[in-house]
Amino acid sequence: MHRAGMIVWGALTELRKRVQPGVTTLELDEQAEEYARKHKARPAFKNYHGYPKSLCTSINSEVVHGIPSAKRTLKEGDILSMDFGVEFEGYYGDAALTVPVGKIDPKREKLLRVTREALERGIEQVRAGNRLTDISAAVQEWVERNGLSVVREFVGHSIGTKMHEDLQLPNYGEPGRGPRLQAGMVLAIEPMVNVGSPAVKVLDDKWTAITEDGSDSAHFEHTVAVTENGPWILTRPREAAGPVW
Ligand code: MF3
Ligand code: CO
Repeated sequence: MHRAGMIVWGALTELRKRVQPGVTTLELDEQAEEYARKHKARPAFKNYHGYPKSLCTSINSEVVHGIPSAKRTLKEGDILSMDFGVEFEGYYGDAALTVPVGKIDPKREKLLRVTREALERGIEQVRAGNRLTDISAAVQEWVERNGLSVVREFVGHSIGTKMHEDLQLPNYGEPGRGPRLQAGMVLAIEPMVNVGSPAVKVLDDKWTAITEDGSDSAHFEHTVAVTENGPWILTRPREAAGPVW
């Protein structure tokens, strides 16, 4: 799973360097797919329940599952969420981040920072013996303490030889509920955070989720294993330290 995760990390690390005004989301999708194939991996989202592309690209008030298109050109000041997953030798990796396009306003900077920190708070709870919703509660607490809101309709998930395995991991709720975390379990932790109300709706394309009130939204995700020594982030280099994205 770390090998799958490293392909996801490598692709997103390449993509974020290419994000700038004038780039279309379709170009990013094509680069993501090419990166996966070059590394003998299969883009996991393509054709998943009919999803048409390899990457999800969600701009500003789009929350998740935005579909890359030649008609969507990034412009200065936008924020772009990129979500990517692959299957490599039967195992899955799944990760996402939100990046600025050029210079963005401070409110958007705060949204990106708090959402990344919420993921970090969640990851800190990944310890054998903790309960699943200890992660949920830590994410929600950080987001709401910073005056932002947590999306309810989409959740994290366990992951392994399928992209979505049995466990669902909400980004809100009481701590101390759900199964105990055990070494060997792997979770995709993926807070989605809105500036305004938590409510979202899905567009007529059947995929793109946007905030109901038109406010901005951000999304950060990593695939994280439970070990006897705490969390192991599988979607980044093992020796990495500091901010998770
Ligand atoms: N990271 C998302 C998830 O965990 C990616 C799914 S997009 C889809 O659900 F197109 F594949 F559905
Ligand atoms: Co996921």
